[in-house]
Amino acid sequence: MCVNIMQNLGAANHFSHSTKVSFVLLFILTVAGIQAQTVVPAWYNQVHEVEIDKLLDKMTLEEKVGQMTLFTSDWDVTGPTIRKGYEADIKSGRLGAIFNAHTADYNRRLQKIAVEETRLGIPLLFGYDVIHGYRTIFPIPLAEAGSFNPAAAEESARIAARESAAAGLHWTFAPMVDIARDPRWGRVMEGAGEDVYLGNVMGAARVRGFQGDDLADPFTLLACAKHFAAYGAAQAGRDYHTVDISERVLHDIYLPPFKAVLDAGAATFMTSFNELDGVPATANEHLLTEILREDWGFMGFVVTDYTSINEMIPHGIAKDEAEAGLLAVNAGVDMDMQGAVFYNNLRKQVENGEVAMKMIDDAVRRVLRMKFALGLFDDPYRYSDSEREKANILTPAHREAARRIARESMILLKNDNETLPLSKNLKRIAVIGSLADSGADMIGAWHADGRAEDVVTLLTGLKEALGSAVKVDFVDVDAIKGTDRKGFDEALKAARSADAVILALGETWEMSGEAASRADIGLPGVQDQLVEELSQTGKPFVAVLFNGRPLAIPELDKKAAAILEAWFPGTEAGHAIADLLFGDDAPSAKVPLTFPRSVGQVPVFYAAKNTGRPRNPNEKYTSKYLDEENSPLYPFGYGLTYTTFSYGDPVADKTEMNRNGKVKILTTVTNTGKRTGTEVVQLYVRDLAGSVTRPLRELKAFQRVELSAGESKTVSFELTAEDLSFYRRDMTFGPEAGEYQVFVGGDSRAEKSVTITFK
Ligand code: BGC
Repeated sequence: MCVNIMQNLGAANHFSHSTKVSFVLLFILTVAGIQAQTVVPAWYNQVHEVEIDKLLDKMTLEEKVGQMTLFTSDWDVTGPTIRKGYEADIKSGRLGAIFNAHTADYNRRLQKIAVEETRLGIPLLFGYDVIHGYRTIFPIPLAEAGSFNPAAAEESARIAARESAAAGLHWTFAPMVDIARDPRWGRVMEGAGEDVYLGNVMGAARVRGFQGDDLADPFTLLACAKHFAAYGAAQAGRDYHTVDISERVLHDIYLPPFKAVLDAGAATFMTSFNELDGVPATANEHLLTEILREDWGFMGFVVTDYTSINEMIPHGIAKDEAEAGLLAVNAGVDMDMQGAVFYNNLRKQVENGEVAMKMIDDAVRRVLRMKFALGLFDDPYRYSDSEREKANILTPAHREAARRIARESMILLKNDNETLPLSKNLKRIAVIGSLADSGADMIGAWHADGRAEDVVTLLTGLKEALGSAVKVDFVDVDAIKGTDRKGFDEALKAARSADAVILALGETWEMSGEAASRADIGLPGVQDQLVEELSQTGKPFVAVLFNGRPLAIPELDKKAAAILEAWFPGTEAGHAIADLLFGDDAPSAKVPLTFPRSVGQVPVFYAAKNTGRPRNPNEKYTSKYLDEENSPLYPFGYGLTYTTFSYGDPVADKTEMNRNGKVKILTTVTNTGKRTGTEVVQLYVRDLAGSVTRPLRELKAFQRVELSAGESKTVSFELTAEDLSFYRRDMTFGPEAGEYQVFVGGDSRAEKSVTITFK
């Protein structure tokens, strides 16, 4: 199904004298009976198109290639820095965008070169990886996904945009919307986890947060949907590894979050490092042109990932950089990140007819479109005001939001005998583990300008909450790296004489993120030994986990009295954890990515298929392991709080649905405990018999509901044909006639259900 949006825009020309981006056109595509809408984004402005035409007429080919070129500054690189002297490149008009340069003054200086010392004075675009905050660091995106609160993700992205736009930036390389089902992959921390629906909702929220309502507002940033596509399906969870998935899995699982963020207006897309069906994503016309531009009507620009054009040579698809560049530009790449391949080859390739001038003009238009949308042609320095920078960075309001969102992102995985919340009326508390006082680790990977010295560590947070009357014994055991047991004895001693023991466990910040895959996803180092020895003292202990991925922790699950998954919580780590540990607030997050019992189960995720021989413990020839359960340690959607909830049977207002119909599903949820609590009520759908096999269940809706002790509420969801749709046997998208079972409950194992029939 292809629609050429640019042709259709002819119809919009009568809007061309409106100075704002205020018109929105809907193109209704009919895809096998389901209506898909391609929305002209709010940042598209016909007036700018006329300006771009004029500019294109004046530009030399070299200047055009410059707009297709992105180089890093010499700050914060994530790969080889093969450019030196980028200032000279700016001056020559051969460089249109810079990344890893920030702060208002520094970027103003670079911008001045572009605006005042080049022939056409085209402003530079400044990009940076603002993934979970700029200076005020929020929880890692995986943690935020666990809040099941898109408003929180939108708010943290909005604050990140506020801070970074004040620090000279225009463009963030976020959100990362790669579905990730293999916790060995270090980059699971950057996305929303394993689920398609949660990924759609969280990705769209982040785009709204970064871009706001109007890119011309100087407190907004261009978003970048990355990594297009299927980067999360790297074989064996090893970063940059081969991806080999079916077209159906690509469409059902990996593409929907990209479509969702495109619909939310994402201005740019980044290609991924991986190959897909034998073709690296950066050379993949099927992805970049057929799907992204033709089927989805994307009007923003596509940037490569870091040197991913050059990497086509080791991939084995191009003999040299010139050939790699040809593959990329012809597949639909608009901007080359850091590879200098377009920079070195494209001019010649246009001159000798290997690349059509139209390809270049289209790419440059898409890049300039964003510079216009940001208002850089009106005032290239509107993001470079150091007074504004001072006033907007790490403000008390931003810190307060970071604390609240961190609280909402932490998952109570275990809480035997109501160990938590702890009383503040203690005499002595033992705090064990180096992570308890490590600011650097709390901000996790991709921490932009986040600084260890800004962080409230767990130790500081506990001391503040408890005041000086409580003695806090901190034992700084570093059990994470290596085999050193230094501090074990002291830790056990402190535990024995304490009223409460808090053990900080997990990974250091650089153990997840890019190029940080792990083959063993247990607790690293000698932390298991520490857990074992602590448990032998007979003192109950609370484990607080810091990590960027689900860990396989069956032993800890047996030995700890309570486990709080704090992830990498950001600048306000210690305050947020103390708020939860002492019951000033209660945990409410749920697992966004399944915790396996052991790495051998990976990939293990809730939306699996049933197989023809579903597990039966009494039947040998069924789908199971000899030495491990099939079920995970903590399933998707799971998480406790300081109260309990019960669910009534779900009820449907109709038992049948047709193509344009809707069915309401109602459930009563009751707080059966003694405290106020928030439950994430989740709705899952299972298609009982389809033209292709379907997952055992798929999340289709959720609501966060706060209930006081004893209170009941009726929660209502509305299901549409879209919620029952999937890529059918013939690869058309839509629902199928037949029965669908609808489950409602507090995690992905929800048992209560109602069946509806689609006619
Ligand atoms: C990563 C991207 C990132 C880019 C720029 C790459 O190595 O894969 O996610 O945006 O570097 O820092």
